[in-house]
Amino acid sequence: MKNITSREGIIQRIQKLEQEHALAIEDYEYLIENRTPETDDWIRYKAVQITRSIYGRDIYVRGLIEFTNICRNNCYYCGIRKDNPHVRRYRLSQEEILSSCKTGHALGFRTFVLQGGEDAYFTDDRLCAIVSEIHERYPDCAITLSVGERSAESYRRLYEAGAERYLLRHETADADHYRLLHPSTMSFAHRMDCIRTLRDIGYAVGIGMMIGAPYQTARHLAEDLKFIETFQPEMCGIGPFIPHGQTPLKDFPAGSVDLTCYLLALIRLICPDVLLPATTALGTMDPKGREKGVLSGANVVMPNLSPTEVRKDYQLYDNKICTGEESAQCRGCLERRMLSIGYQVVTDRGDKKNI
Ligand code: SAM
Ligand code: FES
Repeated sequence: MKNITSREGIIQRIQKLEQEHALAIEDYEYLIENRTPETDDWIRYKAVQITRSIYGRDIYVRGLIEFTNICRNNCYYCGIRKDNPHVRRYRLSQEEILSSCKTGHALGFRTFVLQGGEDAYFTDDRLCAIVSEIHERYPDCAITLSVGERSAESYRRLYEAGAERYLLRHETADADHYRLLHPSTMSFAHRMDCIRTLRDIGYAVGIGMMIGAPYQTARHLAEDLKFIETFQPEMCGIGPFIPHGQTPLKDFPAGSVDLTCYLLALIRLICPDVLLPATTALGTMDPKGREKGVLSGANVVMPNLSPTEVRKDYQLYDNKICTGEESAQCRGCLERRMLSIGYQVVTDRGDKKNI
């Protein structure tokens, strides 16, 4: 049998991926284990071409409102986990959330992402009231929720109140790996059930994982890619794992920017029209992280719209950026960053374009 080099092996698999948008798990694993700087550049170039053919040089923005850092969960990696006693806990009132939306709308945001811990205060009645008020005041905007695992009934009511999109990262597609990252009170099966329920209800669904998460192997990432390929999410949020000093996983190293960018590019090849953010975690690991993300196939950025007073308290990981700025500064900063690499931030709901 001909002895093919890793480079040829990568090229063959990428060509197949480009045509079929699917590979065997072993092939994804091969692509992760045999990369070289040269093949990385080539794949990222391809991803950028695909993104430009669908979305041009437009970058969609989402105004991120981190409205509560109170959480009943204890994810081992997360800085705002319930058992971290050093966090100054806060929750925004309905008026404060609406005021952030007002600021955001004036700044040109047409998507609001309400993200928070799993805070029991936000019952269905309370959260639905907030969602419908935003929906009524800003009918030209999309409302995205990212508030973790809730009942099917709750997801349905929130959808009916006007939320159209939901971000619920699967975190890892491997049940054993999931158990290493979460306490036994949380279950992989339930997370996956929630993701499927959201899809069935009609939400545009965002899944995703941390790159370089503790105990993660190339095989795990290959399983993640397979899950992304089969689930076909509307959005996919990936960013490097960054340790937080007050969590059980504080001593694990952070994930790599290069590997994150490489995976962004592979995801673009798997799902050409997916909405793919260049995350704040990427920007935290590298001052040019978000630019590098866009130059690997990302087409979304999520500037912070939370009131400046609470930003430091939504510390999922150490050294999180953009905690001191005003919303307008964040938006302006990202606009300039995108312009510097030849892209423009647009005032648009930023729905997925189906090809
Ligand atoms: N509670 C909701 C949930 O669980 O989906 C939303 C908030 S949660 C903090 C948002 C995401 O932050 C998680 O899905 C996780 O992937 C990411 N995250 C948490 N801790 C992190 C860390 N140390 N480094 C990088 N990302 C982290
Ligand atoms: Fe709940 Fe992180 S443990 S948001």
